[in-house]
Amino acid sequence: METKLIKINPDKLTKESFKEAADIIRSGGLVAFPTETVYGLGANALDDTAAVKIYKAKGRPSDNPLIVHISNVKDMEELALDIPDIAYRLAEVFWPGPLTMILKKKACVPYATTGGLDTVGIRLPANRIARFLISEAQTFIAAPSANLSGKPSPTMAEHVYKDLNGRIDMIIDGGKAVYGLESTIVDLTGELPVILRPGCITDRMLESVAGRVELDPAILQKTPMEGLRPKAPGMKYRHYAPEGKLIIYEGNIDRVIAVINLEVEKKLEEGHRAGVIATDESLRLYSCGIVKSVGSRRDETSIAAGLYKVLREFDEAHVDYIYSESFADNSLGQAIMNRLLKAAGYSVVKI
Ligand code: TXA
Ligand code: MG
Repeated sequence: METKLIKINPDKLTKESFKEAADIIRSGGLVAFPTETVYGLGANALDDTAAVKIYKAKGRPSDNPLIVHISNVKDMEELALDIPDIAYRLAEVFWPGPLTMILKKKACVPYATTGGLDTVGIRLPANRIARFLISEAQTFIAAPSANLSGKPSPTMAEHVYKDLNGRIDMIIDGGKAVYGLESTIVDLTGELPVILRPGCITDRMLESVAGRVELDPAILQKTPMEGLRPKAPGMKYRHYAPEGKLIIYEGNIDRVIAVINLEVEKKLEEGHRAGVIATDESLRLYSCGIVKSVGSRRDETSIAAGLYKVLREFDEAHVDYIYSESFADNSLGQAIMNRLLKAAGYSVVKI
């Protein structure tokens, strides 16, 4: 299959520029498109054969449900039953934006889309290209992150091209994803809202609107040994593991830098390739190996936005060992550490 790559300027959206992409979605094909979190791999959410194609293109297990993207708050009523009041309040504050709500599904949503569940994840994205595509396609768009299963989520069209060229019909390049981490998922089907996946809408932000919010205990575990089963099916998979061994160093930052420097030196002497995940502040304090800044500690959003790109770059450099600094795990840091710990297979050295 030939994958067509088109570029759309988010400041100049015309019906004409979306015609081909919308036709592909309507006829059951696959289009990767930008969202404010990560790039999504879209198909008609109401067409089960189209949804099945997503799993095939990504090499994704079919029990892992897809998030359905809508372009108007009202659309959630087409997809969900018994919508609680809290869903409307959260939508008012956080939509359009990086929040996915789990609700009871209506019969029109095929089980192929929900991975066999009676619930459906719904998100109204902030990215204007994403919303324009959904409304031009005149349906709802099921879209997981547009990476091959097991790779970091794509934050740029180049990442999508690398993973999915030849496997999907079209990629829309709309520039870099602003947030760089997948949406916060909140389950609204129980007594209290439960966060199933941390993201840029933090627990505090949700609590300011919803009152008490619980956190799926599986999110907080520091080692998989605790054996808790995450409620979002996708969170149970060993997500992305870099080619090299990734180890996180936690503790006083000056000591962390000193210890990482010694480790890298040792690995280089042994003839290995080694890399360091640093920040703008520490970049110059590392003396050897491939050193990359993930962002600035003064602005956590820059770290969220840079993480997946840096992990992909280390894979391309074929390093054997990657040493990473650690980040505070509150607020947005909770989402950053959740993804970093998974990538490291929970390998943490405390200093
Ligand atoms: O930011 C995002 O959410 C991106 C963009 C493209 O919107 N999408 C994304 O999709 O990250 P994906 O498929 O990579 O991750 C979706 C996660 C999975 O962990 C899945 O198990 C969970 O959402 N999920 C989807 N529907 C669910 C449901 N009904 N119940 C529980 N978890 C659900
Ligand atoms: Mg994903």
